[in-house]
Amino acid sequence: MLRPTRLVVLISGQGSLLAALLEAIEAGQLEAQVLAVGADRAAAGLARPKAQGIPTFVQRLPTGADRSVWDQALADQVAAYQPDLVVSAGFMKLVGKGFLDRFGGRFINTHPALLPSFPGAHAVRDALAAGVKVTGCTVFQVDQGVDTGPIIAQEPVLVAAGDDEDSLHERIKQVERRLLVRVIKEWSK
Ligand code: GRF
Repeated sequence: MLRPTRLVVLISGQGSLLAALLEAIEAGQLEAQVLAVGADRAAAGLARPKAQGIPTFVQRLPTGADRSVWDQALADQVAAYQPDLVVSAGFMKLVGKGFLDRFGGRFINTHPALLPSFPGAHAVRDALAAGVKVTGCTVFQVDQGVDTGPIIAQEPVLVAAGDDEDSLHERIKQVERRLLVRVIKEWSK
């Protein structure tokens, strides 16, 4: 019996992807343990781990602050939990060399587009603006670029007539939740 995969999850928003991971673990579908949840802001998604007694931390990056100091502090916070894998589930900050020196190769992110198409913070909006009929989501290993790391898994999502950013993003998130669980499950093998 392999021990559960030790995870630290980083978020910035609602935390619906984090919630999906916690639900998969609770349902016995994922042999993993969320050791802590970190954010770069007072993210709404921190409420659930707090309610479950999971340690949380916020590492803010004040405007004009030294980014490398922030990056090292974030890496220190994560390292304290000795994770096997760090998961960005909607974490909206780019980490730097310090963080990647310590967690590169075991830091994955999920993106709501079929990379390399539509990288960056507005992937769903950009896909709609481009008029694509098919978009999707990507789970990849974070590297020093913006959404440029080695792709691990992807799934397509059809754009429906009348989709706006919210409706399309919600449908993509439904696929992301499944894809992220599958990637972490395969990671643990
Ligand atoms: C996800 O679509 C993720 O790919 C993107 O932000 C969204 C996070 O959603 N970077 P949530 O905060 O987990 O609900």
